Amino acid sequence: MDKLPGQSSTGDMNSLVIRGGRKLSGEIEVSGSKNIALAILSAVVLAEEPVTLLNVPKISDTEIKGQLLEVFGAKVTWEGSTMHVDCSNLNAGHADEEMVRSIRTSFYMVGPLLARIGNLEMPAPGGCMIGARPVDLHLKGLHALGATIELDGGVYKASAKNLVGTEVYLDKPSAGATQHVMSTAALAKGTTIITNAAMEPEIIALAEFLNCIGAKVEGAGTSSITIHGKPTLSGGEYRIPADRIQAGTFLLAGAITGGTVRVNKIIPEDQTAVVNKLREAGAEVKIGSDWVSVGAPTRLEAVNITTMPHPGFPTDMQQPMAATLCVANGTSIVDETIYESRTGHISELSRMGAKIRQDGSSAVIQGVTELRGATVYASDLRAGAALCLAGLVAHGETIVKNIHFIDRGYERIEDTLKSLGADISRVLDS
Ligand code: UD1
Repeated sequence: MDKLPGQSSTGDMNSLVIRGGRKLSGEIEVSGSKNIALAILSAVVLAEEPVTLLNVPKISDTEIKGQLLEVFGAKVTWEGSTMHVDCSNLNAGHADEEMVRSIRTSFYMVGPLLARIGNLEMPAPGGCMIGARPVDLHLKGLHALGATIELDGGVYKASAKNLVGTEVYLDKPSAGATQHVMSTAALAKGTTIITNAAMEPEIIALAEFLNCIGAKVEGAGTSSITIHGKPTLSGGEYRIPADRIQAGTFLLAGAITGGTVRVNKIIPEDQTAVVNKLREAGAEVKIGSDWVSVGAPTRLEAVNITTMPHPGFPTDMQQPMAATLCVANGTSIVDETIYESRTGHISELSRMGAKIRQDGSSAVIQGVTELRGATVYASDLRAGAALCLAGLVAHGETIVKNIHFIDRGYERIEDTLKSLGADISRVLDS
């Protein structure tokens, strides 16, 4: 497998070295959304004709997903941030377990692949650092559509003679299960209605993509989605919208350092939960038709956060927000309700002088006036982003290790932060 962006050609790991204390200010754009790209790269196998995806983030997850598509017979070529995918000839390829485990959304290809080729095997995705992450709702939805899927020796063996539209009630509004059922149903016979569907912006974008290749999906963005199945789907061109989590992270970089950061070419509504909490904390938020800016001329006040499915506060912003609240005035409680173990940032922030304590899956944060640089380890993608934010405001030097996690969601995060005035560089670990 090719090296990950966080690795050198010899497989060594890189670190980010941050000298904190600068106010970050300026205007930036962010790359296309990781999670939308991954959802579409699962559904793209539905298309019998070539698909062109514009604005695809060049991160390890999308590159590996492209390699996985090739395993199943797709032809994949990159031209900068444009990805051409031709799935006209697919086969029941043999997916490598390591590759599948490294990208959880590999599993989200099972239904769309079944709809095209009738049977396949896919290694189980496994859990991860932020929680167990079961796939029971995916399986329930695919079974309801007529698929037979059995786990045998850590591998899902899937087959389907006919996929037939039906009603699917999701016990939880899972983003992944909604995407998986929606995509699979696009090639099922008849109509599927998903009730208690996830309402995340990623679902809306996936529906746009599916409709662009000839599907008929209605209601995406609400809790009830209707999919009228088609016998075949064509190809097309789709532009991946901007990454809302990257945008939120850089807005927090402005807030935590006391500067002003404006993120252009985004969908401002996607930031509603984050900017409302920032306003509550005393930040100055301005919103335009396709941009948001956040400034923090005075120290932020403590606020309480509870993560919720969209339109609630996004779990992916929980750790970056917790880092920001470490230097706010007063005590904040950050309650994580989606993932039981999204807490890897807590011990590392403590090493930097934060008064942060874990209480179950929540963090209790007593704001301090000063963080101090330290060597810290990212335990997962958003924990890594949180440590970078803390490093930006900390006195002295912070070394963030394990940055291959950060590279999974941010295209060279140091370049964007540097353009806003940060003192940050990527170094090869000795
Ligand atoms: C996606 C995002 C992730 C984000 C999450 C929630 C991608 C690649 N990842 O993950 O960044 O944090 O949405 O916004 O798009 N669950 C079950 N059974 C299932 C499926 C999910 O119990 O079959 C649970 C999960 O363990 C979790 C909750 O449902 O507690 C939400 O998960 P889900 O919305 O499915 O997240 P992902 O699609 O995996």
